[in-house]
Amino acid sequence: MAEPSIHLRIVPPADFGAAAGRLVADLLRENPAALVGLPTGNTPIPVYEYLLAQQRAGALDLSRMRAVMLDEYLGADDSPMSFHHWLQRRFLGPAGIGPDRLLRIPSQPEGIEAACADFEARLAAWGGCDLQLLGLGLTGHIGFNEPGSAADSHTRVVRLSAITREANEEYWQGEEVPAYGVTTGIATLLQARRLVLLVNGERKAAILRRTLEGPIGPDVPATFLRQGRDVWVIADQPAAALLGAGAPHA
Ligand code: F6R
Repeated sequence: MAEPSIHLRIVPPADFGAAAGRLVADLLRENPAALVGLPTGNTPIPVYEYLLAQQRAGALDLSRMRAVMLDEYLGADDSPMSFHHWLQRRFLGPAGIGPDRLLRIPSQPEGIEAACADFEARLAAWGGCDLQLLGLGLTGHIGFNEPGSAADSHTRVVRLSAITREANEEYWQGEEVPAYGVTTGIATLLQARRLVLLVNGERKAAILRRTLEGPIGPDVPATFLRQGRDVWVIADQPAAALLGAGAPHA
C-alpha cells in the first residue's frame, strides 16, 4: 500500500499528459522562473506536448522557466543520441529554453567525478529543484539509478543494467547502447521540493506496484520516493491496474 504522503492520481490514458502537465503549469504560473527537472523517454512526451500546446495557446509563459537535466549517457556529449539532444528537440528548443536557463548534467568521461560534484554545487546555487519529473524504468530505476543505488547516492556514473540497455535499443537505432550513464542521485532527487513520477502503459504495472506497495530499498530504487516530502504519482489506468484497491487517491 502506498504511504499517505504520496498523492496517487490515476487517469485515463488520454488525460495522462494534461494531468501531469497541469502540475508543472500551475507551478510556473506561481513561480515563472521555477527550476524543473526533466527526464527523457517515451513517458514524458505527452507532458511536454501539453506544456508546449499551452504555451502556443498563450495560456502558459515558459520564457523564464529553468530546467535541469536528470541524466545522460556517459560520453554522449553532443551526439544526436544524447539525452541533451533529445530534450532540445522535444521540449527545450520549442519552449525557447536556451543554455542560460538549462543546468546540464556532465557527460565527458575525463574529470567526471569533479564535474558531478560541480553539477550538485550549481544545482544548489540555482536554488535547488522546485519540481522533478521522473519516468519509471522496468528495473525500478528513476533517472539512471539502477537497482543497488543507495538512498544517500549523489550525482555519479552508473553502470546500466542489461534490461535498461535493451529497453533503449530502439532509441539507439542499431548503434550499441552505451554501458554507462550519469545520473542525479537518489539523495539529490529527494531534495526536490516536489517529485512527480510519471507512469503509463500496461508494461509498467508490475514495477509500479512494487514501487508503491513493495518494501522500500535499493532493489527497487523508485521505492525511495516514498521517503520524499511532496511526491505525486500520475499513472494511467493500464499502469495502475495491479495496485491494491486501498491505494490512496489524490
Ligand atoms: C530518462 C530516464 C529514465 C526513464 C525510464 C522510463 O531520462 O531517466 O529513468 O524515465 O527508463 O523510460 P520510458 O519513459 O521510455 O519508459
